[in-house]
Amino acid sequence: MRKQIGILTAGGDCPGLNAVIRAVVRRALEDNAEVIGIKNGWRGLAEGDVEPLTRASVTGILPRGGTILGTSRLNPLDSPETLEHVKLNWRKFGLEALIVIGGEGSLAAAFDIWHEHNFPIVGIPKTIDNDVRGTDFTFGFDTAVGVVTDAVDRLHSTAESHHRVMVIEVMGRHTGWIAAYGGIAGGADVVLVPEHPFRLSKVCNLLKHREEQGRAFSIIVVAEDAKPHPDEDFLDNEVREQIYRHDRLGGIGTVLGREIESCTGIETRVTKLGYVQRGGTPSPFDRVLATRFGVKSFEMIQAGEFGCMTAIQGNKIISLPLKEAVRGPKLLDDEIYKVAEVFFG
Ligand code: F6P
Repeated sequence: MRKQIGILTAGGDCPGLNAVIRAVVRRALEDNAEVIGIKNGWRGLAEGDVEPLTRASVTGILPRGGTILGTSRLNPLDSPETLEHVKLNWRKFGLEALIVIGGEGSLAAAFDIWHEHNFPIVGIPKTIDNDVRGTDFTFGFDTAVGVVTDAVDRLHSTAESHHRVMVIEVMGRHTGWIAAYGGIAGGADVVLVPEHPFRLSKVCNLLKHREEQGRAFSIIVVAEDAKPHPDEDFLDNEVREQIYRHDRLGGIGTVLGREIESCTGIETRVTKLGYVQRGGTPSPFDRVLATRFGVKSFEMIQAGEFGCMTAIQGNKIISLPLKEAVRGPKLLDDEIYKVAEVFFG
């Protein structure tokens, strides 16, 4: 009988998911294995919503953003009923292994399901945030940084013409990877990240100094979870709760822009990049990384390496125990932040 492997995409989408799906199917076909696509993350397994993936179903999807399978944030361990349905459908579809493509949260759930309920699972890390431990990069990140860089370049030219401060709010969840890489690549004058709470007075002094030096415009990249230093907190509780909601971060850019304008007197505009960072075609780097992860995941199943995920370390694709990846988010590397800092001011 042909080996039957399930595959699902969970959590937020990102560019490169389709490249992984294609790679898994193409590699599986080499060994005459069958890949069952599970729709909308774990929800598809709970509800029995699946479709066999053939060579024809993955033709032409390499450059497509999003995920042909759909996604959801359902965690099968949230209720015993859901888990029961997942188990029933697992047997019904004759699955021998499951590939879970997910971010930090979804991989943590995959680890629990493998560890506590013995599901033969292989993980693949994905996210624009690049916050998964144990892997130098996740696919999706390079594409998001490309979007941020392009936006910063465009905002540079209009900021310069109008002698304005431009505040650009970017995603990244609880880490500053996108902000730091996008800021360095776009030549930002200040980059604010969650790992380093910022002092408004310092930011304003820097902007005023730039103005005095004849640099009459400035670019600030702020990560969605960047926070003021407790010694100089300018957010009231209501605003803080709105900005730092666990399920939906966003809004620090607007408040920061207002504060900067009132303290420096320099005209300030805010752009929140939002979901454009997550959409569209994957960059060549992300296509290659996603494809390498997809091929590796099938080979990990063949080798019985369950409870592990694919990872890239120093350009080598490896298999890493999920346990090592799910101990909280991978924070921004200090070396990267220090490079960004060289260009502050
Ligand atoms: O994890 C990817 C990400 O885009 C984060 O950068 C952002 O905070 C979050 O997802 C937004 O999630 P949602 O799609 O649920 O609004």
